[in-house]
Amino acid sequence: MGWPLFGETTEFLKQGPNFMKNQRTRYGSFFKSHILGCPTIVSMDPELNRFILMNEAKGLVPGYPQSMLDILGKCNIAAVHGSTHKYMRGALLSIISPSFIRDQHLPKIDHFMRSFLTHWDNKIINLQDKTKEMAFLSSLKQIAGMESSSISHPFMTEFFKLVLGTLSLPIDLPGTNYRRGLQARKNIISILSELVDERKASQETHQDMLGSLMMGRRENRYKLTDEEIIDLIITIMYSGYETVSTTSMMAVKYLHDHPKVLEEMRNEHFAIRERKKPEDPIDCNDLKSMRFTRAVIFETSRLATIVNGVLRKTTHDMELNGYLIPKGWRIYVYTREINYDQFLYQDPLTFNPWRWLGNSLESQSHFLVFGGGTRQCPGKELGIAEISTFLHYFVTRYR
Ligand code: HEM
Repeated sequence: MGWPLFGETTEFLKQGPNFMKNQRTRYGSFFKSHILGCPTIVSMDPELNRFILMNEAKGLVPGYPQSMLDILGKCNIAAVHGSTHKYMRGALLSIISPSFIRDQHLPKIDHFMRSFLTHWDNKIINLQDKTKEMAFLSSLKQIAGMESSSISHPFMTEFFKLVLGTLSLPIDLPGTNYRRGLQARKNIISILSELVDERKASQETHQDMLGSLMMGRRENRYKLTDEEIIDLIITIMYSGYETVSTTSMMAVKYLHDHPKVLEEMRNEHFAIRERKKPEDPIDCNDLKSMRFTRAVIFETSRLATIVNGVLRKTTHDMELNGYLIPKGWRIYVYTREINYDQFLYQDPLTFNPWRWLGNSLESQSHFLVFGGGTRQCPGKELGIAEISTFLHYFVTRYR
């Protein structure tokens, strides 16, 4: 487990995915280490990974770092378990259901992407910055109906500080990312509280996520407190931010590197445009017809491994795979390697979206890009809708 206190953190950070590969070669698919300040079990075994994800009730709860929990708040979804988790997740699912996506989010996403992807010609575009901005502003529009209001840009600056803070060591000293993240959380809470208060005072109903959560409270569907509503909003922004932005950015990179794929994508999207007037928005039927685009998104998330794995911790001593795991140890359900398994994916290092068409790869149990079990990503279809609409305007407007 490496050095006292530091364990194997330096090797883990320096070597990245190779650290996991090397350890697996030495110790097999289930081994212990000490990384990022915690004794950690790494599981790369597909069967075991599924078991861990399916058995939160047996004491395998989310085990995200302290800085993340402090900055995302005590009501954020990864910090709550059991019935509270069920309740919060229910409230979240009620505002990202398929009918909600169709009637409320998709029109907003279309409106946003249509104007966001203008005037990019004859300029050098930093795609990483653009996709980050896109993911943040698009979710702000769905949450609070805002686009380029006076609040959105200061909000974005605070949000980026919050994200950095969640990935830092929890040392509360001036000048640290952790301190800045905590301060950003305070500022975001004050922006959101003001918005909640304004809406309470005006009694108007708003057709957006915040409006629906407040309405749910009035109608006694999900009685969330202001604090819970605000933490849920921060959870939604945070969970869909790095995932949606990185997938969109990497999809563009792969499209650039694979002209045949780009051609097929453009055919799919021009065929959609031909059926519509220029001002017609992308609707649910268009989204359904984007079969190849969906395949491109899955292939991108597989080959670029958008999510390396998910973290759990044990709430009591327990036996796992024949070993006794002490209470409080972290378990890194490491899913990255499965994406490059040559028995599951022929030529695993080739970008080949066609492999996702005409078979049920997406629903196979080893495909864990969106997690699994009780914590499986509730924002999957919303995220796909955002990325697909982004790609639609990207490939139909630019070469
Ligand atoms: C390409 C896009 C996305 C990817 C790859 C992705 C991936 C994941 C993964 C792997 C998990 C499981 C985490 C765990 O088990 O600890 C997860 C959970 C979650 N995702 Fe996503 N996600 C995406 C988009 C979104 C979007 C747009 C939202 C916005 C609603 C969202 C909201 C959430 C939430 C709230 C959870 C926690 C669920 C719970 O703990 O019950 N995700 N996501």
